[in-house]
Parts: sequence; structure tokens; C-alpha cells
Amino acid sequence: MGNTVHFSDLGLVNTREIFRKAVGGGYAIPAYNFNNLEQLQAIVVACVETSSPVIIQVSKGARNYANETMLRHMAQGAVAMATEMGSKIPIVLHLDHGDSFELCKSCVDSGFSSVMIDGSHLPYEENIALTKKVVDYAHARDVSVEGELGVLAGIEDEVSAEHSTYTQPEEVEDFVAKTGVDSLAISIGTSHGAFKFRLKEGESVPPLRFDILEEIERRLPGFPIVLHGASSVVQEYVELINAYGGHMEGAVGVPEEQLRRAAASAVCKINIDSDGRLAVTAKVREYLAKNPGEFDPRKYLGEARNELVRLIKHKNQAVLGSAGKA
Ligand code: 13P
Repeated sequence: MGNTVHFSDLGLVNTREIFRKAVGGGYAIPAYNFNNLEQLQAIVVACVETSSPVIIQVSKGARNYANETMLRHMAQGAVAMATEMGSKIPIVLHLDHGDSFELCKSCVDSGFSSVMIDGSHLPYEENIALTKKVVDYAHARDVSVEGELGVLAGIEDEVSAEHSTYTQPEEVEDFVAKTGVDSLAISIGTSHGAFKFRLKEGESVPPLRFDILEEIERRLPGFPIVLHGASSVVQEYVELINAYGGHMEGAVGVPEEQLRRAAASAVCKINIDSDGRLAVTAKVREYLAKNPGEFDPRKYLGEARNELVRLIKHKNQAVLGSAGKA
């Protein structure tokens, strides 16, 4: 790509300092996925108003959807908007689930301050080799890298797996030492998407495998751990969607208390995508059903944006504990 840009020129930061503080401080940095203007505006407003550091992240699919050049300017705009609001919250632009060296390199070159290389589906040694290659390229440019061990079930854009495989704690020290990653995503029972658990009548959500998390923490003291698939699948939104023509019966996610417990431990980054999608869909469905003559996108997307601000503020304050930590 001809127009290489470094993240520091966009006003972004990498994850080093914010993770160091989060691990020591018993809270997690929120990583919110976005694809469009309204989502990004809501993330900035909510994080500025709660004074929370934030990771804005895009998947490969989101990057294709939004256009890579547009994305870079959106991220720069997010920093400018926060500054105009009188805030200096740290903002990280992160690639979620990078699936190749080339994609990670392209993101580093176009201004991302952090990338994930997800080699978790590969044989162990291949995961190490691919991750190390990305780390070598990214670290030479001060860009942070997230790796993954263990496979999450569910669907996240193009990444999908039918069954999960828990992270094996015996592998984590070796993986981190050999790759040099800055953070590690693990699998302890969360999954991507809005249907995380198939519950039968009367069953409740099974607890996350905190025993695995504790063992990983014992083996890698003070090392930043990342939790993917961490939406709670807010039932109020599922009900609104179903009430206004949708079909999302049985959608269920990770209870907030469990996420709070994870955030207080070595988990210092929590990924949330589905809850944002649900909030937008619920409010758009409700608005259009109640206002059938309306055709101005600012009206229904504005409703969705307001709801996203409420949701993100709640997450920062009551779930992740990142409010006031910027
Ligand atoms: P959710 O589907 O639970 O929001 O998870 C998102 C995620 O992990 C993005 O990588």
C-alpha cells in the first residue's frame, strides 16, 4: 500500500500502558466492535462520558464493509471527537481475528495500533510460527499483538467453529515465550454470537471455567488475558426484537456477574460485539414498527445510537469496571 501511516500520527495508542494498569487495577478494557458511523459515535460518547479507555475493533469483514481508508479516517475522527469533547481517553484501533500475516501487516501499515492473529485453529507449532511472524513485524512498529490458544464455538463474521476447545494451561507459558505476544485470548466457555448456550427448559447458564483461568493466571502472573465472546445477550433487546417481527428465541449469553468476576482477575480485555448488534436491531425494529411513515435514517439510527450509548456506559460502569480509569 502506498500510503503507509503510523498509529501515533492518528492520535491512537497501543495496548501496553492501558493493559498494565488494567491488570494491576482489577478491571478490564472494553473492546467494542464497530462497522459504521453511529456505532463509533456511540462508543466515543459513552467512553468519554464514563472516562474509560477503549479499544475500537474491526474484524476482517468489518474492514471490507467499511473500506480500509475510510476506517483509518474514522479512527482518527474518533480521537478528534473525544479531544473536542475535552477528553484524553486512550483509544486503540485493533484488528479482531486477523487470519493471515498479510492482513495483519496491512492493518499495521494502515494505522492500527494493535492486531490479533488468530492461529487457534492451527496445529500448535504452526500457531506459534504464524503468531511470531506477526509479532516480529508489528513490534518493529510498536504495534501490540494478541494471540489465541483454545477455540471458541460460535460465529463471528467469517470465523466460525461448531465446538469449543478449552485452552490448555500447560501450553500458555511456552506459547507466550516463543511468540512474544502482548496478550493472550483464551477459551474458558464463552462463545461468539447471540446463541451461546443451548439451554433446555429450566436449565441455567453453565459457569465459565474459572479454574482454567486461575491456572493460567498462576502460570503467567500479571500477563494480560483476553476474553472473547463476552456479550451478555441482553434479554430486554431479545424481547424487543421478538416483539417487533424478529425471531431470536433462545438467544442467551454470559451473565454479567461472571464477566465482572473475570474482569477483576487477569482478564484485562473483554470483547463485545453481539450486544451492540442486538441494541441497534431492537431499536430500529421498534422505531420502524411504531413509525411506519418514517423514512429518515437519522431517526431510527439515532434511536439506535442513543441506546448504544446507554448500553456501553452500563458495561463500563457495572461490568468491566473501566469507568473513571482513563
Ligand atoms: P460476542 O459475540 O459475545 O459479542 O463476542 C464478540 C467477540 O468476541 C469479538 O471478537
